[in-house]
Amino acid sequence: MVILSRIEKIKKYLNSQNRIKAYVSGLVNDDKLEGILNKYKIHALPQVDVNDFFASLGETITPVINVKADFTGGISPVNDYYMLCRIARAIKAEQYFEIGTWLGLSAYNLHLNSKDTGVYTLDIPPDHEEIELYKIPEEVFGFYSKHIQSIHHLRADSKLFNYKPYSKSFDLVFIDGNHSFDYVINDSKIALELIKDEHSIIAWHDYILCGEINKNVLCGILESIPAEEHKHIVHLYQSNIALYSGTFDFPKKYFDQWKIPLHNYNLSIKQETRP
Ligand SMILES: C[S@@+](CC[C@H](N)C(=O)[O-])C[C@H]1O[C@@H](n2cnc3c(N)ncnc32)[C@H](O)[C@@H]1O
Repeated sequence: MVILSRIEKIKKYLNSQNRIKAYVSGLVNDDKLEGILNKYKIHALPQVDVNDFFASLGETITPVINVKADFTGGISPVNDYYMLCRIARAIKAEQYFEIGTWLGLSAYNLHLNSKDTGVYTLDIPPDHEEIELYKIPEEVFGFYSKHIQSIHHLRADSKLFNYKPYSKSFDLVFIDGNHSFDYVINDSKIALELIKDEHSIIAWHDYILCGEINKNVLCGILESIPAEEHKHIVHLYQSNIALYSGTFDFPKKYFDQWKIPLHNYNLSIKQETRP
């Protein structure tokens, strides 16, 4: 019995390694994903300049955004927290939903920068096989967000979560859970149900991963957003985020990879130590 359970563990481990490979396969030449890109004749999303993007959302003053980060693995890069919060502010998001809480930093930063926004964040439940597999302590989930009352912590695998009560409720949905192709499709279809109307925005994290287009995410987006809506999907330049809204209508632009961008950002970083 002991041997059997070890074998089960190893099998689970191998499966999870395959999932990691599937995730990373967005960076290598996977035939299935290439086929999808060829089918839609889209190998990269058009890009939008940060100023053009925020002007289109009606932003008149470039805001100062406060961001908390602890620079550990699994959290988003600071520029992505910045852009996400800036989007929420620009569209005056009343309700925000995210898949992928982890330490709760995207949820916390959203709250920090738009206090009146209702924040809902979903992550896998304590009995999920991946928690056991990676030996993740429970305190990790929502570490920075769980003490904030207006942040609602939901626990379920995103393939099993009952979204019906939240249907058509959100101005901004951030997809940052399991980044495999299948889950990106699942989570994107759900996001389409969660958004309030055609002005709402869906944001996918890790469209850019380690400086490269993450084909898992790109293909997951293309397979879930109806083809006639693909013209409304963009990559927000200087972020790792892809965005969709039924109202987006930007000129098709691709920035030269080596061109110095127009905008740069000044960061002041202050260390805090927990008591
Ligand atoms: C990259 S982290 C999220 C980071 C967070 N959004 C941030 O920016 O601070 C990804 C999270 O997605 C969660 N996750 C992975 N698979 C999931 C699934 N199937 N359903 C729900 N959450 C999932 C992981 O447990 C992890 O906490």
